[in-house]
Amino acid sequence: MALGLLVRLAAEGPSQASPVNSLPIPPLLEGEELDLRIQKGELELPFGTSDSLGYNGEYLGPTIRAEKGDLVSFRIANEIDEPTTVHWHGMHLPAEYDGGPHQVIPAGETWRPGFRIRQNAATLWYHPHLMGKTAEHVYRGLAGLFIIEDDYSRSLPIPREYGVNDIPLILQDRRVDRDGRIRYAPRGRDVMHGYLGNIMLVNGAYEPSLELPQGTYRFRILNGSNSTIMRLAFESGRPFTVIASDGGFLPESVRVERLVLSPGERYEILVDFDRRGEDALLSEIYGGSTMQAMSFSVTSEEGKSYAHPEGFRYDPVEPEPSSRTRNFRMETRGMGFFSINGSRMDLNRIDFEIPKNSTEVWTVDNIGMGMMNIPHSFHVHDVQFTVLSLNGSPPPPLYAGPKDTVLLYPGDRIEFALRFEEYTGIYMYHCHLLEHEDAGMMGQFMVK
Ligand code: C2O
Ligand code: CU
Ligand code: CU
Repeated sequence: MALGLLVRLAAEGPSQASPVNSLPIPPLLEGEELDLRIQKGELELPFGTSDSLGYNGEYLGPTIRAEKGDLVSFRIANEIDEPTTVHWHGMHLPAEYDGGPHQVIPAGETWRPGFRIRQNAATLWYHPHLMGKTAEHVYRGLAGLFIIEDDYSRSLPIPREYGVNDIPLILQDRRVDRDGRIRYAPRGRDVMHGYLGNIMLVNGAYEPSLELPQGTYRFRILNGSNSTIMRLAFESGRPFTVIASDGGFLPESVRVERLVLSPGERYEILVDFDRRGEDALLSEIYGGSTMQAMSFSVTSEEGKSYAHPEGFRYDPVEPEPSSRTRNFRMETRGMGFFSINGSRMDLNRIDFEIPKNSTEVWTVDNIGMGMMNIPHSFHVHDVQFTVLSLNGSPPPPLYAGPKDTVLLYPGDRIEFALRFEEYTGIYMYHCHLLEHEDAGMMGQFMVK
């Protein structure tokens, strides 16, 4: 544990001493032809400097922004000395460009995916997905946001100035070793419970602060942790309004004081900072402690204020009488044996086929038992689905909109409707606790 180091840091207060630790905002990357270079870097933190990976930089990557209807093409150069992939999490796209474990980019080579954006405004993200290496590659720094806008999102009276009042927050816990460095070296229990951290980073910075004029702010929050489930709240208890989930706007906004995100999940929230003062965003870790993620310093300057919309347009996926039902049992059998329906991921096995242009209903169970009582999540590639029920009841309000990743506590059962259209090929479904995914809690389906 780096506890000694952290206590010392708290006492010396390098972050308090230097108010220059302001929140980094990932640069925007826009256009028809986008270049990403996967490169090695260094992550500098108050504790020390660690080797890292990044897209077009030292750590994390630019925020890609595109419009519904756009055709976007990429040149993705792998400049690290090992293979990886780039997966577009939450994107509806041709399987060959999905960037899953089948689309390996060998060291030194360039991958050129291109696809048309066919879905509604949303905050998606991109990250590696190499078989057995996803956790490590993401941990070392490979992740970025992918924002989609459309006519509807642009017509709404909500904050939309990127980096000004529309602010991305990529939250990641990281483990600082005794020597002040971050490295990925999981042991048995880290596979079981995930590679949990002892510090939080926001956009790659440790406890950054954000100075804001008074007004209404939109935050696009990604839980970019490997396996950490976090519950966010403001130190002041300030309520806020959740307006969007993984795949876009919610049918009804949800007023909350706390927000739980499992790895890979996104929410967009509106927060009113309507008077001068300080506040902080706290992250309570499932099965762990509470850490400060970042702080806010509201100035006396007057910025723009917005009313919080009560709800938004949303077309749910509706099951049809002919919809096929499938069941998925997420199960842990002993240390490190993670399975879905009794089997582990095999790149050479297609778990099932789905006819193109069909709607299905999937039920997922987290079979929690005794020692193996651990949460899982369930993520499906290519689609945004509609949750029909959670433990036999209607979905909670935060799960009433478009989702691609859902959290299942031990014993939970969730049911959702998905529609597969336009594209064919092989896509993944898996637990998005990355240590579990890499341990085999993944499968693949073929749309044909
Ligand atoms: Cu975010 Cu299959 O991944
Ligand atoms: Cu994905
Ligand atoms: Cu899991």
